Amino acid sequence: MTLTPHSLTRTQAYINGQWLDAQSGLKFNVSNPASGESIAQVADCGAEETRQAIEAAEATLPVWRAKTAQERSELLRRWHGLVLQHKDALASILTSEQGKPLSEAAGEIAYGGSYIQWFAEEAKRIYGDMIPPPANDKRIVVIKQAVGVVASITPWNFPNAMLARKAAPALAAGCTFVAKPAHETPLSALALAALSEEAGIPPGVFNVVCGSNSAVIGQELTKNPLVRKLTFTGSTAVGKLLQEQCTATVKKTSMELGGNAPFIVFDDADLNAAIAGAMASKYRNAGQTCICANRILVQSGIHDRFVERLHTEVSRLQMGAGTDPAVDMGPLIHKQAAKEVDAIVQDALSLGAQANAGGKVSELGPCFYEPTILSGCTPAMRCFREEIFGPVAAVFKFDTEAEAIELANNTEYGLAAYFYTLDHSRIWRVGEALEFGIVGINEGLVSNAMAPFGGVKQSGHGREGSRYGIDDYIEIKYMCMGGI
Ligand code: SIN
Repeated sequence: MTLTPHSLTRTQAYINGQWLDAQSGLKFNVSNPASGESIAQVADCGAEETRQAIEAAEATLPVWRAKTAQERSELLRRWHGLVLQHKDALASILTSEQGKPLSEAAGEIAYGGSYIQWFAEEAKRIYGDMIPPPANDKRIVVIKQAVGVVASITPWNFPNAMLARKAAPALAAGCTFVAKPAHETPLSALALAALSEEAGIPPGVFNVVCGSNSAVIGQELTKNPLVRKLTFTGSTAVGKLLQEQCTATVKKTSMELGGNAPFIVFDDADLNAAIAGAMASKYRNAGQTCICANRILVQSGIHDRFVERLHTEVSRLQMGAGTDPAVDMGPLIHKQAAKEVDAIVQDALSLGAQANAGGKVSELGPCFYEPTILSGCTPAMRCFREEIFGPVAAVFKFDTEAEAIELANNTEYGLAAYFYTLDHSRIWRVGEALEFGIVGINEGLVSNAMAPFGGVKQSGHGREGSRYGIDDYIEIKYMCMGGI
């Protein structure tokens, strides 16, 4: 079966304003994780097409950089307008290739669009500085300039929003862009390219190259000296490899890598708020986000009530194909993902955890994993050390605040953390003690375009969104003027 044809479904690469097949003529298959059905055959590009896109981006750089900030802003605003106008079509493409429920997909389109809107505004606010000079006959001026050609590698869990939040600040700053979306979900990126074309963003500014061999495309993006910056969202293991590959040409990098978020519930928490936050943070996108609650740490006085209430909420979740409006949670991205989640669950069960809900692959199909609650988890288990990336709430019991902080920080990751308490001084103490780039306090949903998204430790570096997000795409130039 082929995808319902509509104008936003593109299956060719978008290079220098042209829609192109792979030079080899090869295509790769994209399938719907809910049904396993093939939905599209996409041009299977490699190093040659990637080089072509990089060269187009480099050739277009002077033209794009020379536009005024106001002109770039206007084009981004038009792109944003088209994204919103086509929200339903984009959401349907996203659900068909990624699996999340349609309402969640529509939420992602609005979320991705909000970064385009935000950076359309920020384009106009890339200010320089005048610095007091060391002598009266000198002036020190600092200007900010676009980094140059930016390459992005984006994941399948948010195929629209992760690309939008990298491309928007890059284009706003005056950079040109080559995108390599995940091979599981190329259609959302190609649809964004189609809308960038309709918005009038000039050929060569925004390019998309898709392919089944990520390593080959990644090599070209990281080794080609014309690329001045790589921005990546994905696993810590792949991020380290890409970072290493970028060293030979000393590229700037932004790395948004894995997480292992603690979600701490203190005895003095508002239980209703904590349950709502845990459900939103844990089961969003079937647990496939880098900032999902991974280790749910619950103080002994509230522990049993929390687990019972969580169980009530989890048993209400409807799992199924994302196209069914009654569904709250879709499949995982592929069978292998479900197997990996199951291995983590089986490890916990073998070491003494209890499955209060779920605990296995669903009868709905090999990509569906039952929403699961594990209680009695301990730091000896894989679910304490590893990113679960599935709908599994692993609950750990603790007694004291110091113990909670110690457990929470006991990870090489440092992306997001959450905690629930109504005690004002504890809010400051714990908030400051957590070694994470993002901290949700009495709040389970922390992502928005106004805020700086990013991690510390092995969760990466760089920030996306907010007024800080543009910094990763600009260079600072200091000009010293003498003889004044
Ligand atoms: C991610 O999972 O990497 C991004 C999640 C978000 O933006 O909320």
